[in-house]
Amino acid sequence: MEFPAEFLNALKNAESVLFFTGAGISAESGVPTFRGKEGLWKNYRPEELATLNAFLENPDRVWEWYEFRRGIVRKAKPNAAHLAIVEFEKYFREVVVVTQNVDDLHNRAGSREVYELHGNIEKNFCLRCGKRYDAKEFNDSEHAPHCPGCGGLVRPAVVWFGEALPADVMKSAEEAAKQCDVCFVVGTSAVVYPAAYIPFKAKSSGAFVVEVNIQPTEFTPYANLSLTGKAGEILPEVLRKLKEVR
Ligand code: OAD
Repeated sequence: MEFPAEFLNALKNAESVLFFTGAGISAESGVPTFRGKEGLWKNYRPEELATLNAFLENPDRVWEWYEFRRGIVRKAKPNAAHLAIVEFEKYFREVVVVTQNVDDLHNRAGSREVYELHGNIEKNFCLRCGKRYDAKEFNDSEHAPHCPGCGGLVRPAVVWFGEALPADVMKSAEEAAKQCDVCFVVGTSAVVYPAAYIPFKAKSSGAFVVEVNIQPTEFTPYANLSLTGKAGEILPEVLRKLKEVR
C-alpha cells in the first residue's frame, strides 16, 4: 500500500498520536457494529434497550441483552488493529486511545492510555449507592442483580442514550485531541455526539487526521486522508511503514 508523502511526513515528525475508535475496529474480532446491514440497531430498538427508562421499565430484558453482548465480547480477542495500536507506543512519546467501544478490547490488547467515552461493558454500578462492581461478580444472566450492600438495582456501566458522558473522561479525551499531531479515526460512522467532536477538535488544533474505514462516513470530507479498507489490514500496513520512517 502506498501512502502520500504528506502523511508519512506527519508520522515522521509526530510526538503524540491519538486513535479515535468505534465499533468497526472490533468487527474483525467478531463483535457486531451498531449501524449498517448486520448492525445491532437493525434488530433491536435502541430506546428499548439502551436507555435508563427501558432499564427501569424492564430491568431483566435490558440486563439479558447486556449479558448476551458480554458473551460475545468475552469470546472475542483483540485483532490485528488493536494490537497494531499497542505497537505504535514504541515509536511515539504518547499514544492515546479514545474509544466509543464498551468491549474492553483495547485494554485487553494492552494499550496503556485508553479513554472509554461510552463506558465499559465489563463493569456495573448500583443505581442507588453508586458502588461499582466487575461484571463477573454477577453470574445470573437472566435477572438484573441487586446491590449486595444496599439492595438497589445494579446496571451496566455504559452510557445510555440521553445520558451524559463521564465528564472527566471527556475532558481528558479533549485534551489529548488538542495536543495530538496525528489523529486516526478508525471504524466509526462518526455520527454519535458528543464523542464525534473529538476528531474535529484534533483537526482544528492542527493535527493531521487520517480516517480508516471500509466506506466513506460523515467525517470523510474533513479528513486529511482517507484510507479505505479493514482496520485489521490497514493499521498493520501503517505500522510497517512507520518502522521505515521513524
Ligand atoms: P457504527 O456501527 O455506527 O459504525 C461502525 C463503522 O465501522 C462504520 O462506519 C463501518 O463502515 C466501519 N467498519 C466496519 N467494519 C470495519 C472494519 N473491519 N474496519 C474498519 N471500519 C469498519 O459504530 P460507532 O461509530 O462506534 O453508542 O457507533 C457509535 C455509537 O453508536 C456507539 O458507541 C454506540 C452506538 O449507539 C452508545 O452505546 C452510547
